[in-house]
Parts: sequence; C-alpha cells; structure tokens
Amino acid sequence: MRVFAHRGYSGKYPENTMLAFREAEKTGADGIELDVQLSKDGELVIIHDETLNRTTTGKGYVKDYTLSELKSFNASVIKGNTCAPEQIPSFEEYCEWVKDTRLVTNVELKTSIVYYPEIEEKLTEMIKVFKLEDRVIFSSFNHLSIVRMKQFLPDCPVGALVEHDDLQFAGYYCNKYGFEYYHPDSSLFTKENADNCRQYGIGVNSWTVNDLGTFERLYEWGAEGVFTNYPRILADWAHRN
Ligand code: G3P
Ligand code: MG
Repeated sequence: MRVFAHRGYSGKYPENTMLAFREAEKTGADGIELDVQLSKDGELVIIHDETLNRTTTGKGYVKDYTLSELKSFNASVIKGNTCAPEQIPSFEEYCEWVKDTRLVTNVELKTSIVYYPEIEEKLTEMIKVFKLEDRVIFSSFNHLSIVRMKQFLPDCPVGALVEHDDLQFAGYYCNKYGFEYYHPDSSLFTKENADNCRQYGIGVNSWTVNDLGTFERLYEWGAEGVFTNYPRILADWAHRN
C-alpha cells in the first residue's frame, strides 16, 4: 500500500511547506499530497485554504496577492512558531525539488470555492517542463478539474475526491468518467464501495488516515494508498507487510 504524506509531514511540520515536504521524503513515504491555488498574478502556489489566515501571517484571499506578496508571509505559524519561518512554496519550486527524488506527487486542485482560470493549463505546462508525467496523480473535489486534467494529460492518473459522504457506486462512477482512482474520506468509506471499486478496477486512496486500525482495515479492503499526517509510522508498517 502506498503512503502519501498529507500536506507533507504535516503532523510534525508546518503543512504545505518545503520543510514539511523535505521531512516527508526522509520518512520513507512513497509520495506527497499537496494543495494548489493561484496567486493574483496567475502563479501556482501550494496552500490548503483559499484564505491565508489559518496557516500564515497574512490575511484575506490567496487570489488577491501576487506571488512575491505571498512570499512575504510566514507559513509556519500553524505550529505555534516553534519552527523557523517558512514561505508559501510556489509549485515550480516544489517541482524543481521533487524531480530529483523518487516521490510520487498527488496534486490536489483547490477549485471548489474559487474556480481559478486556467489552473489546469498551468499545471499541465509545469508537469511537462519538469517531466513529472509518470510520477503525478491529480485530484479534486471539483470533478470538472480532473476531467480537464485528463483532457490535457491523458496518461496521468486522476482521483475523484469526495467529502461529507461516500459516493454510492463509486467504482462505476469513476470507471464511467475515466478516473483511475477514488479518494474517499476514510471515516465514511464503506466495504460495499471498496468492493464496487475493485469490481470496476478503480484504485482507492483514502484520507486522512492517522491510526493503524484504519490503515489495516483499508489494507484488508484492498485500498491502494492512504494520505496521512504521520507518514513515518505508516510507511514503516506498509513496507514491513
Ligand atoms: O487529498 C486528500 C485530502 O487532502 C483532501 O482534503 O481538505 O485535506 O485537502 P483536504
Ligand atoms: Mg488536500
């Protein structure tokens, strides 16, 4: 089973920062999950919320600041300032680093609240520039975004994210639309849907799995991967079994 560090090694380091990504690599995780949005000047940036307030010293919407303005904020405040200051990474900066690792990247497009113009085109270009086509999965709660990624990069797998509920007949749905993966909330995912995904040849990557009990249950149900804030523990388990 593949272990993805959710927002990097976010259980221990400030989420979605280069520090969290570098530390995730050291845990033996197979991959990294990160969230992308667009700055005011159309640059791909890595941050989870549409607003800066929770994770940085900035205030207001990401979309209202240029990349250089976003870079002036401290993105490590969420860990109570116990870490040295960290910047919001650009996706380009991340690609420059990850290209020399063995890691797979799950790029989550945050397009459900702000629909960023041409974010899919910009991601496509960046993936091509850094030749990451065989080490990337795209996912989004907004399935229009993964349909568009499939149009631009047909050979790159995509995952349908769902929240609030488990999607009935998820395997059928993903198969119908050409999505390779289903990405459910682990607390809502059912055995029926695990079986439905297996029936239609759809891989399951579930989030956010921070305990071994859930991890083992998903393993028994045939899930292919998990997203976790604590990649060291789960990567050790996954590589032993
Ligand atoms: O991609 C899995 C997970 O990250 C989805 O939820 O809110 O953590 O981006 P969220
Ligand atoms: Mg995410």
